[in-house]
Formats: sequence, C-alpha cells, structure tokens
Amino acid sequence: MNNDIKKVAVIGFGAMARSLEHSLRASGSGIEVSATLVPHDLTVDHDGVEVFHDVAALIEWGPSVVVECASHQAVKTSVPSLLRAGIDVIVVSIGSLGDTELLFSLEKAAEEGGSRLTVASGAIGGLDVLRSAKIAGLESVVYTGTKPPAAWRGTPAEGSVDLASLQERTIIFEGNAAEASLQYPKNANVTAAVALAGIGFADTRVTLVADPHAGGNTHKVNAAGAFGKFEISLENKPLPDNPKTSWLAALSVEQALHRHFQRIEL
Ligand SMILES: NC(=O)c1ccc[n+]([C@@H]2O[C@H](COP(=O)([O-])OP(=O)(O)OC[C@H]3O[C@@H](n4cnc5c(N)ncnc54)[C@H](O)[C@@H]3O)[C@@H](O)[C@H]2O)c1
Repeated sequence: MNNDIKKVAVIGFGAMARSLEHSLRASGSGIEVSATLVPHDLTVDHDGVEVFHDVAALIEWGPSVVVECASHQAVKTSVPSLLRAGIDVIVVSIGSLGDTELLFSLEKAAEEGGSRLTVASGAIGGLDVLRSAKIAGLESVVYTGTKPPAAWRGTPAEGSVDLASLQERTIIFEGNAAEASLQYPKNANVTAAVALAGIGFADTRVTLVADPHAGGNTHKVNAAGAFGKFEISLENKPLPDNPKTSWLAALSVEQALHRHFQRIEL
C-alpha cells in the first residue's frame, strides 16, 4: 500500500464522520475524507466527498484506508471485504468485536488480504496501559460508567429504579463486560474497548451508575496487577452535532488516522 496517497474513506456519514471530515479539512494536514460508503436510501451531498452505496465500488475506487464510523452491522457487512481486498480499516464501533465469531472472521480476512484492522480508543483512554500491563498479568479491571439519570432512560435501569425521582448516586448495574454489553448496548463500545485491551469480557467488572448530581458522562477504569495499580477518570463532552457521541471518540479516530500515515508514530 502506498501511504503517500492519502485517499481516506469513511463508512457512514453521521455525526462522527462529519466531525472527522470537518476537523481534518481544517487541520491542513493533507489527510482528507474524500469518499463515504452509506446505505442505499441515504443521500449525501458534500463537496469533495464521493458517495458509494456498494462496498465493491468503494474497493474499486481504491482507498488507502477506511474508517468505520457507522454501526456494529457495518463492521459485519463491509469491513471483511475491505480487509480481504488489502485495505486497512480503523474501527470505532468496538462493541461489535465482542462477537468472537466476527473477530475471528475479521482476522482471517486481514490475513488473506495482508491488511490490518486497528481499533480506535473511542471515548475511553488508558488502553495502552491495560495492553502493556496484561503481559505481566492483570488481577482485576473494573470499569465504572456514571451518567445523569435521564441518560439511562430506555435501558433496563428503568425496571429497577425510578430515574425521575432519584436523589442520590445509585448503582443500576453490576456484572461483567459480557452481561453489560448485552443489557446496555449503548455503553458497549467503551466496555468492549476496556475488555479487549485488558482481561476480556468475562473477567472485566462493570458498574453502571445513575447520579442526579453528575454534570455529564464519566468513565472510570481501575486496574491492578503485577505491574502495580492504575486509575483513570474521564469526563467527556458530547459532539456538538450528536449528544450521544463523545467528542473524544471522534478525536480518537482522527489521531488513529494521523498515526496510520506517520512514518514515525509519536
Ligand atoms: N468507541 C466509542 O467509544 C464510540 C463512541 C461513540 C460512538 N461510537 C460508535 O460510532 C459509530 C458512529 O457514531 P455516530 O455518532 O457518527 O452515529 P450517527 O448515528 O450519527 O451516524 C452513523 C451513520 O452511519 C450510517 N450507517 C449505519 N449503518 C451503516 C452501514 N451498514 N453502512 C454504511 N453506513 C451505515 C447511518 O446511516 C448514519 O448516517 C456508532 O456505531 C457508535 O456506536 C463509538
């Protein structure tokens, strides 16, 4: 692959892809989003961005790298073909990788195509620490996600607590990352990122909290192992265009893209 030709395509053209496109164009780095793969029923009219509705046509166009900013379904349906065609892919819908069969098929596709799949860190940080620390052995990894009560509407939390009248910090879920991903799919990207970087879905403990005093969404990771102890706490601001998506998640994709094209990864 020729890394000097920066033909970047994105899958999806929602809040994250648009933020990425805008931010890259403004950066003057020479890396620009110049194509998108979107569903057949979606019209995208954006200067300088070629639109594809079919993964084969996108492959024909010849992207240097494709950034998946769409959905778990897109990882299943489009990413294997891209990898098999020798095209590197950066994935942000990390929750999809909790499906071990899918993970296996992606690995096989990348092997066949001589390509690479990179997982963006998304809305969470400290994954480098977990990846390094697990080599010497991790004893425990605990993820705690805290949101204002209203943010848990439409989740199983509604069945156990009265979110509207909550006065104090209340735990709405305790379990492992596999159970959390199933019951709280909106949190699945972050729990999957922590589980995949650390000790897996079965052993990563997850606590989800509704806090009426919380100003926003916070993510905390505590880990302990042979290396020592680690704690990280993040309070993320949402993307201006989509309150569901953390700005940091979009930025993590952008930096993954910069690293992809760097001769020296800093
Ligand atoms: N890793 C993280 O921490 C993190 C954080 C936030 C969001 N995400 C994930 O990033 C993805 C994008 O987020 P967003 O805020 O841009 O969402 P969005 O809803 O604003 O946009 C998603 C876009 O993708 C398109 N799409 C869906 N399925 C598709 C497919 N199979 N092929 C092509 N296009 C498809 C939709 O039409 C939509 O335009 C979501 O899957 C979300 O779960 C990850």
